[in-house]
Parts: sequence; structure tokens; C-alpha cells
Amino acid sequence: MATARPARFWDRFAGRYAARAIKDPAAYDAMLADVAGRLRPTDRVLEIGCGTGSIAIRLAPHAREWTATDFSPEMLRLARAKPAPKNLRFVLDDAASAFDGGPFDAICAFQVLHLVEDLPGVLSRIHANLKPGGLLMSKTWCFADMGLKLRGLFLVLRTVGLFPTANALTKTSLREAVRDAGFEIVDERVYGADPHGPYLVARKPV
Ligand SMILES: C[S@@+](CC[C@H](N)C(=O)[O-])C[C@H]1O[C@@H](n2cnc3c(N)ncnc32)[C@H](O)[C@@H]1O
Repeated sequence: MATARPARFWDRFAGRYAARAIKDPAAYDAMLADVAGRLRPTDRVLEIGCGTGSIAIRLAPHAREWTATDFSPEMLRLARAKPAPKNLRFVLDDAASAFDGGPFDAICAFQVLHLVEDLPGVLSRIHANLKPGGLLMSKTWCFADMGLKLRGLFLVLRTVGLFPTANALTKTSLREAVRDAGFEIVDERVYGADPHGPYLVARKPV
């Protein structure tokens, strides 16, 4: 497992992440309902950057198999401590290499693509490890679309270790990166009031 951006930040932050309240439960539920609606009971799903496993635990019953991966041992320790469906397994791995068992019918990446060191490389591996027609379902923080003041605040938080290193994506550059990896974007939505975290569904062409 090779990783350039260390998991240390997430190991330290895992307890707080697990304890935090979902900001907008209705928007969160609506997004997960959309993901569930795109899954078939025969699907084998890979999730990268699964965190403490909340999404995997909710959505695994909609698929045949769900492999949830994350590079933070502490995030995974918390995930594994939760009651989980039998078809779900948690695996410690970096998003750059977490593709054992592919090709998959769907790959999920919630709040993680802005964190990976080599976004084009990760997207092209996601594409290579999906079946033709397979879906990438993602939600990604597009930091560079925010106003100057907020961007400045996050840079300060990062400098003092309260925020991880993140890619300066805009919605436009995110779409471009997804298309450059060979995907067609089939849906893009914003769930909730924050326009900077688009939910994107992309298909590997048949
Ligand atoms: C903001 S949390 C999102 C967790 C979960 N997907 C969710 O939506 O609640 C980001 C997660 O991505 C993981 N992560 C960050 N960079 C990663 C990488 N390069 N490989 C694998 N996991 C990574 C972190 O450990 C953390 O658990």
C-alpha cells in the first residue's frame, strides 16, 4: 500500500469524524437513496475512502458484495466496531491501489476524490476497474469554487493541522478530470444548501 499523503491526519480525526452530526440529514438521505436506486442486487461494489463505514453499512444491503476501503487504520477500526451487513468487508488500502477483486459494477467515492494525491491516476484506475457500463458515484468538495475568505480560512486551518491537504478543484475541473479518465457524466446534483460538494454519477461507456 503506497501513500504519499499520510493517513495520520485521519487517524487523529477519526473519533471526532465518527461523532459528528450529519449537517443536513434530509439531503444526505436523498443522496444515498439515489445511489441505492442505481444499484442492482447482483452488483459488486467498491468504495474508496469509506471512513467509519456509515455509507457502506447503509448501502451494502442494496448490492451483492460491498468492499469498503480506506487508508486510515483508525477510521477502519471504528468502522469494524459497528454492526454491519454480512456482504460488507472493510479493507485497509489507499485509493490509488484499492482495486483487488475488480472489475466492479460500481465504485463509490464520497468526500475523498479531493483528498487523493494523484486525481487523474486514481480516476483512470477507477475506470480500468469498472465493468463496461459500470458507474462511478461520487461526492467531491470543490474547494476552489468557494469565495476568497473561505478559501483563506481553510488554508489557515490546514497550516495549523486542523484540515487535510486537499486538491483545489472547481466543479469544472472535476468534470474535466472525470471525462478525461474516459467517463461520461450521466448526472450531477447538489444535495442540500452547499453548492461546493456536487454529487456526480459517471458511466464507463459500454
Ligand atoms: C471526509 S472523509 C469521508 C468518509 C466517508 N466517505 C464519508 O463520506 O463519510 C475522507 C476519508 O477518506 C480517507 N482518505 C483520504 N485520502 C485517502 C486515500 N488516499 N486513500 C484512501 N482513503 C483516503 C480518509 O481516511 C477519510 O476516512
